[in-house]
Amino acid sequence: MVRLVQVSASYQTRRQPAAAAATAKTDLVLNNISFHIKKGESVALIGANGAGKTSLFLALAGILPLTHGSIFIDGVALSKRTIKTVRRKIGFVFQNPDDQLFMSRVYDDVLFGLLNMGIAEEDAQSRAWDALAKLGVGHLADRSPFRLSGGEKRLCALAATLVMDPEIVFFDEPSAFLDPKSQRMASAVIQALPFTKLIATHDLAFARTLCSRALILRSGALVADGDPAALFDDAGNMSLWGL
Ligand SMILES: Nc1ncnc2c1ncn2[C@@H]1O[C@H](COP(=O)(O)OP(=O)(O)OP(=O)(O)O)[C@@H](O)[C@H]1O
Ligand SMILES: [Mg+2]
Repeated sequence: MVRLVQVSASYQTRRQPAAAAATAKTDLVLNNISFHIKKGESVALIGANGAGKTSLFLALAGILPLTHGSIFIDGVALSKRTIKTVRRKIGFVFQNPDDQLFMSRVYDDVLFGLLNMGIAEEDAQSRAWDALAKLGVGHLADRSPFRLSGGEKRLCALAATLVMDPEIVFFDEPSAFLDPKSQRMASAVIQALPFTKLIATHDLAFARTLCSRALILRSGALVADGDPAALFDDAGNMSLWGL
């Protein structure tokens, strides 16, 4: 469903003087990453601050260009030509909800993607209300997303993504800012979703509950891929990975 083949990426895609180009290898924010996530799998993406988790999501969204390698979504290679079609299958929950919510009302944000996709207004409205209710934020529908608490924003952003019924969802820190009760709710909602999921998180308990597999990133490289419990219980390796 999601296949990365020797993916490398850098934020320094501008032309560089020869001297800088010679050291460009050290600028790689993603360094030769390969993995395959099967349909229906829930995979945790773990790594210290700055390890490259958000950058990997930006590459999957086609926002961060690759310097090497390929990304395949459902068998289709991600490129400028295919990005529009591929994006329809993918949902993103961004690390910063301000990057995702931009309308003046929460409800319009949740409705926006559906109308954009050409879903009939009445159907779209009922789906939007359902999604808000599922995440316990129906009462925030008329509020401005810019004047919500961090956790409220996070739940609304989750609703705006999940309402689209994507096949694959990339979650960047879905439990950040959430109080214990909202965390349990978000966790239950995410767990019940039948989609393929890749979840970047620092919350190892959350990852253990939701995921049957974990990928560990360190300085842009994939250093482990396996059972979350086995990986997280290995204190020696965890400290080596800066975790
Ligand atoms: N727009 C940017 N331009 C240049 N460098 C960037 C940019 N965004 C991130 N970086 C760098 O890329 C590296 C990886 O950052 P990234 O945001 O992917 O880490 P992360 O694993 O998501 O970290 P966190 O857990 O803190 O969210 C870091 O060294 C960061 O400083
Ligand atoms: Mg990040």
